[in-house]
Amino acid sequence: MKRVLLITLIAVMAAGGAVFAAGSQDQSGGLDIGIAMPETHVLRWVTDGKKLQENATKLGYNAEVVWADGDQTKQNKQIEDFITKGAKLIVVASINTGINTVLADAAKAGIEIISYDRLLMDSGDFNYYTTFNLKKVGFLQATAIEQALDLKNAKEPQYITLFAGSPTDNNAYFFYDGAMEVLNPYIASGKLVVVGPYPKTSADKTNFQRIATEGWRAENAKARMENLLTNDAKDVVLDAVLAPNDPVGRAIVEACSNDAKYDTIEKLPIITGQDGELPTVQYILENKQYMTVFKDSRLLADATIQLADAILKGQTPNIPGTEKTTFNTNVKDVTTYLLDPILVTKDNVKKVIIDSGYYTADELKSIGQ
Ligand code: GAL
Repeated sequence: MKRVLLITLIAVMAAGGAVFAAGSQDQSGGLDIGIAMPETHVLRWVTDGKKLQENATKLGYNAEVVWADGDQTKQNKQIEDFITKGAKLIVVASINTGINTVLADAAKAGIEIISYDRLLMDSGDFNYYTTFNLKKVGFLQATAIEQALDLKNAKEPQYITLFAGSPTDNNAYFFYDGAMEVLNPYIASGKLVVVGPYPKTSADKTNFQRIATEGWRAENAKARMENLLTNDAKDVVLDAVLAPNDPVGRAIVEACSNDAKYDTIEKLPIITGQDGELPTVQYILENKQYMTVFKDSRLLADATIQLADAILKGQTPNIPGTEKTTFNTNVKDVTTYLLDPILVTKDNVKKVIIDSGYYTADELKSIGQ
């Protein structure tokens, strides 16, 4: 009798313990780290969100990741939900400054915030930013064009049209300015001729707005490229297109492919990108997109969760493999950790992305690798 009673008692305690643990989570919320990603129409954010949650969980944190479909109102609700659940820290890449009201709510609740790969602008409610060297991303895109067109030795003018990222994304201005530091001397010398609007730098807000891609949405880039092909670029053969990220780059490939002037892969302009997205790896292997800038989100997620861990433990952050600097949000300087982006073309895409385990075997099989 005693043995049956003992086993029953253990079973009841075990069940009660489970309920208690769950109950304690329900009572305290139990959420340690909330991860708010902006969208999934740019594939890299799916990868980033998963890796951030994986890394946080490995360190024993209760972490939840959500995506906001490029809708700031939706993301604000998601962040309010994190606050309700008792989050101690939030990692966020926003869509626009409409987020600032909930950042203030989180700060009032004593929640630390890390701005992830997109600087939270016009806010003083956070202290940390992790990203890749933004101007270097643009520098690499433009250097790829410089090399592919051999601009240093070009005897004939080469024609280029310019695209920028979303005007709501502070990063887009740095990407563009990094690229134009390389391209402007060639434009000034006449070796490179711009077809369409030409903001010399992002400070030319009117023309920057004309080349920007709202929400980083591929459909917006495709529509603009189709318009260029039937207007400003109708009577010229483009040698290059500065595209700020991979979905925009692929949209430009598609628009050009439907134009008789570029009806074979060999005739396509040199088209740039960023983020090392899987469909772009395929386009690079097929010579459709010339390059991407690889921003290994395993490294960014790892650095960010290391930073989160230090913050939550009240320790001084020390993030190996990053350059420590500050960025200004128009309200304050925030401590920034920069990682190094890598130029990827057909020459090194296998080594840098395919063989590095960044994508699973199944993912690679889906693009015939
Ligand atoms: C930027 C980010 C880029 C790219 C772009 C599109 O903020 O720095 O790597 O992902 O968003 O979403």
